Amino acid sequence: MSEQYIYPVKPEIARHAHITEALYQADYQRSINDPEGFWAEQAQRFLHWRAPWHTVLDYDYPSAYIKWFQGGRLNVSENCLDRHLADKGDQLAIIWEGDDPNQQRRVTYKQLHAEVCRFANALKAQGVGKGDHVCIYLPMIPEAAVAMLACTRIGAVHSVVFAGFSAEALKDRILDANCHYLICSDEGFRGGKTIPIKATVDKAAEQCPGLSKIIVVQRSGNPVNWQPGRDMWYHELLAIADTESEPEAMDAEDPLFILYTSGSTGKPKGVQHTTGGYLLYAAMTHKYIFDYQPGEIYWCTADVGWITGHSYVLYGPLCNGATTLMFEGVPTYPAADRCWQIVDKYQVNIFYTAPTAIRALMAQGDDFVASSDRSSLRILGSVGEPINSEAWEWYYHVVGQTRCPIVDTWWQTETGGILITPLPGATELKPGSATRPFFGAKPEILDAQGQVLTGVAEGVLTLSFPWPGQARTVYGDHQRFIDTYFKAYPGYYFTGDGARRDEDGYFWITGRVDDVINVSGHRLGTAEIESALDLHEHVAESAVVGYPHDIKGQGIYAYVTLIVGTVPSEELKRELIAHVRAEIGAIAAPDRIQFAQALPKTRSGKIMRRILRKVAANELDTLGDTTTLADPAVVDDIIANRLNR
Ligand code: WTA
Repeated sequence: MSEQYIYPVKPEIARHAHITEALYQADYQRSINDPEGFWAEQAQRFLHWRAPWHTVLDYDYPSAYIKWFQGGRLNVSENCLDRHLADKGDQLAIIWEGDDPNQQRRVTYKQLHAEVCRFANALKAQGVGKGDHVCIYLPMIPEAAVAMLACTRIGAVHSVVFAGFSAEALKDRILDANCHYLICSDEGFRGGKTIPIKATVDKAAEQCPGLSKIIVVQRSGNPVNWQPGRDMWYHELLAIADTESEPEAMDAEDPLFILYTSGSTGKPKGVQHTTGGYLLYAAMTHKYIFDYQPGEIYWCTADVGWITGHSYVLYGPLCNGATTLMFEGVPTYPAADRCWQIVDKYQVNIFYTAPTAIRALMAQGDDFVASSDRSSLRILGSVGEPINSEAWEWYYHVVGQTRCPIVDTWWQTETGGILITPLPGATELKPGSATRPFFGAKPEILDAQGQVLTGVAEGVLTLSFPWPGQARTVYGDHQRFIDTYFKAYPGYYFTGDGARRDEDGYFWITGRVDDVINVSGHRLGTAEIESALDLHEHVAESAVVGYPHDIKGQGIYAYVTLIVGTVPSEELKRELIAHVRAEIGAIAAPDRIQFAQALPKTRSGKIMRRILRKVAANELDTLGDTTTLADPAVVDDIIANRLNR
C-alpha cells in the first residue's frame, strides 16, 4: 500500500464542478469554525421553508439530544415536487426500468406531483393522519416513491421494510413501529422470478392485530388473497381521490421516517430521522458529492428498502430537481451487461452502486462491459462496504474508461447521508480510501481508551460534532440510542467502524469493530442470525461470524452445536438455511454451517468469537492466546472440522 498511486483531479471535471479544491478547503474550514452560520446558509440555499427557524442547533451528546432548525417549518414533498413544477414540470423526475428490459415508465415532475397529491388524499381518506406510522413493503416500482412522498405530504411517518425480508422479520418491524397501515404490492419481479409480496404481508399480518388497512399496488396482476374491509387496491383509491392536496407544514424536528437497521446485539433498531436536517443533508450531499448538474440522468442502484435508497434514490435527487433512475431488477439479468445496457439506453451520467455488485460483474469478465458504449458516464460512486483496490481499479479503468472519478462514500443508516467522501472536482483519489470529510463532518480516530489520536493513526471512527442528517433516536427506545452511539466514548458519536488516517489525512475504513457484518453490502447483526438459528428445534447453540468472501465482501459462517441425539447431516444444514431465510430473509442465509461438539468459551462462559473468526478465515497461525478457554480441546475439534481451507 506504500506505493499507492494517486489519481489526480481531472481538469475537465473540475472546470464545471460545483466544488473545487480551493472551495472545499475554504468551505470545510468555515463549516467547522462556524457550523451554525454555515448550516443556516445551506438550509436557505437548498430548502423552501414555510416558517424560519429560531435556533440552528441545540445539542447534548451525553443525553443524545440533537435538534436542528428548531421552530422552522417545511414539507418534504413540497420541497421535492411542488417547487420544481414552475421550471421543471415536464422534466423527468423518475425513469423506471423494469426487471423485464421491455418494461419502462417515465414520470415527469408534474405527473409525480399529481399522483402524490392524489395518494396523499387517499391515505387521508383511509384515516391516516399526521404522526401516524405507515409501513411500506414494496418492490422497486415508482409507487414506492409515491407512497413515501405521500406520507411526507400529510406528515405521516413511513417505515419502509426491504421487500426481501421474510414475514417474520416484517411482522417484528410492523409491531415495533406500531404501524396501523401498510402499503404493498401483489407481487414483485426480480431476475426473471416472481416474488410473493402480498402473501408475505398476509402471513405477517396474522400476528399484527393493530394492522387495520393494507393498500395493494397491482404489479403482476396475479390473484392474491383478499380480506375485504382491510385490503384495498391502490388504483381504486387513486381513482376516487381528490387531486388538490395542501402539504402539511411540519416542524423541522418532526419525525420523517423510521428505518430498521442491525446492530451488535438484540433486534434491529428503528433508526429515526427528522424532517429539516435530514432533507437538507440528503440534498446537499447529493448535489456536491455526485456533482449533479441540471439535466443529468442519475442512477443509484440501491433498493428503497435501505437508507441509500431513501437518501440517494429518492429524497436527495428529487429535492434537487434531478432525474433519478429506479431499477426493479438485478445487475445480472437477463445477462451481466444489464447495468451498461441501461446506462446506454437512458444515457446515464452518474452511476452509484455497491462494491459487491462491482465484484460480481468483474468476475463475469470484461466482455459484458465492452459490448456497451458508456460514454455518457461522468461520475461513478461506491457505497456500503470497503471497496478493495482491485475492484476499484476495474471500476475505474474498465467501466469508467479512466474518464470518471470514483466517489467512495462512507456513511451509515444512522448518519442519514454521506460523511466521508471524495468530491469529483476537488479530491485526488486513492483506490480504497473514502478520503476526506464532507462539509461539517468532524471525524476523529480514537484509541480503545478513548484518547484522540492525531496524525497518522488507526483506531475507532467517531464524530465529535453533530451534522443535520444525524439520526435523532431509536424509535421507542431512546436509552438504546444513547447506549449504542454515545456511551462508549463520551462526547463522541461512535460509528462501530474502525479507520486509519494516512499521511495525507485520508481516511481508510477498516470495517466494523463490533458484531455487525456486511454481506453483499447488507448490514446484518451476527446476534440476529444466531437467535434465528437457536429457535430451530435441533440447535443447542450457535455462533455466527463473518469471513472474507470474494464477491460478497463478507460471507456468513455459522458454528452450530446440536441438541444431544441429533444426527448432523447435509440435509439438516439445508433445513437450517431454510429456517434462517424464513426467520429473517434470504440475505441472512448462512454460506457455511459447521457442526461443532461445543463452542470455545471463556471460563466465565463467553463465546470467544475472535477464535471463531480466525478459524472461519483460515488464519490459524494468528489464533492468539487460547489458554483462557474453559476447555482448549474444543478449539482442536473446531479446527479439525473447519470448512475453509
Ligand atoms: C459500511 C449504508 C467502507 C460501514 C450506507 C458502515 C462502508 C456500514 C462504506 C453502514 C464505505 C458503508 N467504505 N465501509 N464507503 N459505506 N460502509 O447502515 O461498516 O447499511 O458502518 O449504511 O456500512 O451500513 P448501512
